[in-house]
Formats: sequence, structure tokens, C-alpha cells
Amino acid sequence: MKDTLRECIEEKRTSYTPIWFMRQAGRYLPEFQDIRKKNPDFIKLCLNERLSAEISLQPIKRFNLDAVIIFSDILMVPYGLGQKVEFKKGIGPILGELNFNVILNTKSKDFIEKLSPIYKAIKRVKENIKNKSLIGFVGAPWTLLVYMLNKESPKKNFDMSKIIKNKSLMRDLLLKLEDIIFLHAKEQIKAGANIIQIFDSWAGLLPKEKLSEYCYIPISKIVKNIKLLKIPVICFPKGIGENYIDFCNTVKPNCISIDYETDPEWIKKNLDGIPVQGGMDPKILLGEKEEIKKNVEKYLNTFKNYPYIFNLGHGVLPETKPEIIEFIIQTIKEKN
Ligand code: CP3
Repeated sequence: MKDTLRECIEEKRTSYTPIWFMRQAGRYLPEFQDIRKKNPDFIKLCLNERLSAEISLQPIKRFNLDAVIIFSDILMVPYGLGQKVEFKKGIGPILGELNFNVILNTKSKDFIEKLSPIYKAIKRVKENIKNKSLIGFVGAPWTLLVYMLNKESPKKNFDMSKIIKNKSLMRDLLLKLEDIIFLHAKEQIKAGANIIQIFDSWAGLLPKEKLSEYCYIPISKIVKNIKLLKIPVICFPKGIGENYIDFCNTVKPNCISIDYETDPEWIKKNLDGIPVQGGMDPKILLGEKEEIKKNVEKYLNTFKNYPYIFNLGHGVLPETKPEIIEFIIQTIKEKN
């Protein structure tokens, strides 16, 4: 039997709205905080197969969600390629010097070996769930490139001209990333992931004329290869505005995850029936229940006769009360 996300994506069934949340395993959950306090090294935590499996299942134990997303991070790929990655409290990720030789010469076998606890954690999770989707994920080449070259979140500090200055090096790095990201997705699938989500969290930094080269083409290659393994791909090119339509026409993902700036009516009208996921602004979850309910209903009404997976337009914020997640789930179940 197919799980509900796969059914929604592949059979475009619309009678029931599957639900999961980006960052459902994370800082808003006290049970995650408990584990995190005892594990100050975030990378080590991601490489602890027992704890990673346990954290992945925490939101499933609390809420009856339709999908598990494996607890890991998109920056495990630069780590696997030999770049130093640290997570500093209150700052976010800080990456070390970029050694092109080390990165370009990393062998697949060594990369897989280094990240093998992630695949083992997926196996463990798989053994503990029935009839739920198990989502593996990767960062898109562009977003990883941004972190690897910028060495910190581009939120405050980012200079595009510095990033794209050495064209041929950029091309080599992009090609290496395309290969290794696909390899990482493939290993997650081998371990039991039955959907892959690609996060291009910083696609919105690209000017329109650069979207094709840095976002659409690299992601297209990865999507095409994952599809060959008969696994559907959800793409989340955050912040690209009206280019969502171009993205879908070029990349042809099995499902498109929309951000909170995307008008749901507009996207439904302009898409060719491709399943949609997400959209609601995570900040709304910090407000009044009336407003939350109104917003949930806006998405449900818009996608009433359309294959739609409920999710947010970005990750759950750390300040979110877990009871609000429960409230949203109940609101959706009442409408089903
Ligand atoms: O529940 C899930 O969604 C699974 C786990 C998950 C994490 N990171 C755990 C995490 C997923 C899917 C990610 C993806 C990720 N990581 C993205 C893409 C999605 C997005 O948010 O745009 C990005 C850009 C990253 C990089 C990253 N990791 C940043 C910028 C940060 C620090 C700030 C933040 O958002 O938390 C992280 C750390 C991180 N990744 C935490 C968690 C639970 C917090 C770690 C902590 O306890 O400090």
C-alpha cells in the first residue's frame, strides 16, 4: 500500500490532505532541546545514528503526521567533502576554509563512509514506521555553494560578485556538487527513504538571468537521476517569486513546495496540475488561533480539488508552541 504523500504525488488523489512540517524535528520541541543540551556538537549529533533516529521520530510520537523527515542537515554534504562545519549558538553555521583540491578529489566511497551513520539512522527509522512516508533530503547545489563559499549564512553578509568571480572553478564545484548530492540522495533511498526533498533555500539570491545556470540546470540533473530510481522529488526553490512557473516547466519536479510569499491562487492557476506542498507563513503560528485557523483554511480551500500536501512556507520557528502544531492538525482533520 502506498503512503499518503506518495499517493497524493503520484496518483494526484485529493480526498485527504497529508500533513508534515519542515523542521518538524527541531528546536520548538522540548524533547529535542533535552537531547541537544547534552550534545553540544551538532554535527556529531547528526552522526549519532541512535539519537538521529530518535529525534526523527519525536514529532511522530507527539503528532500523527503523515511523513517522517530524517533528522540531519543540508550542510552534512560540505562536511562529507572535507570542509569544516560548525554550528555556533545564536549565530548558525560557520564553515571552515574551502580546499578545492580536497573537495574535488573526494572519492564517493569515502564520502559515503563518512556519512554512513545518516544512512543507518534512516534504516532504523524505517523499521519503526508503518505506512508513513520517509523523506530524505539534500541541499541544492546553489544553496550549498553559497554556504561553502560564504562560510556563513548569507542572511547578513553576502556579496554575489565574490561568489561567482572564478567561473571555471565555480563550474567544477557545481559539477562535483551535482554528483555528490545525487549520491547522497541515492544512499538515503537505498537505506529506506521513499521521497526526496531538495532545498534550494537561497535560490532567491539569484538574479533572473542566473537562475537557469545555477538553479534550474543543476537541480534538473539531480531530479532526473532520482526519478530514474522511481522515487518522487519535492523541490523547494525558496524566494524565486514568479519564476516558480519557469522552475516547474524546466525542472519538472514531482511536487513543488511553495514559500510564504507565493500566492496560492496564482500558483494553482499557472501550474500544469503538478502537486503542491506548503505555503503558510511560519510566523503566523506565533499569533492567535483565529488567525491561524483562517490561514490554514485559505490553503485548504484554494487546493480543495487539487493534489496538495499541507506544510509551511519554510521551517517551523523555534518559538512555536507544540500545541499550535496539534491545533493545525486538528483544524485540517475537521475539514477532511
Ligand atoms: O525536521 C526537519 O526538517 C529535519 C531536519 C533539518 C535540519 N536542517 C535540522 C537542523 C532539515 C531538513 C534542515 C535543512 C536545512 N539546514 C536547510 C534547508 C531548509 C531551510 O531552513 O531553508 C538549511 C538552509 C540548513 C542550514 C542550517 N542548519 C542553518 C542555517 C541552521 C541554523 C539556524 C536554524 O535554522 O536552525 C541549521 C541548524 C539546524 N538544522 C538545527 C536543526 C534542528 C538547529 C540546531 C540547533 O539546535 O542549534
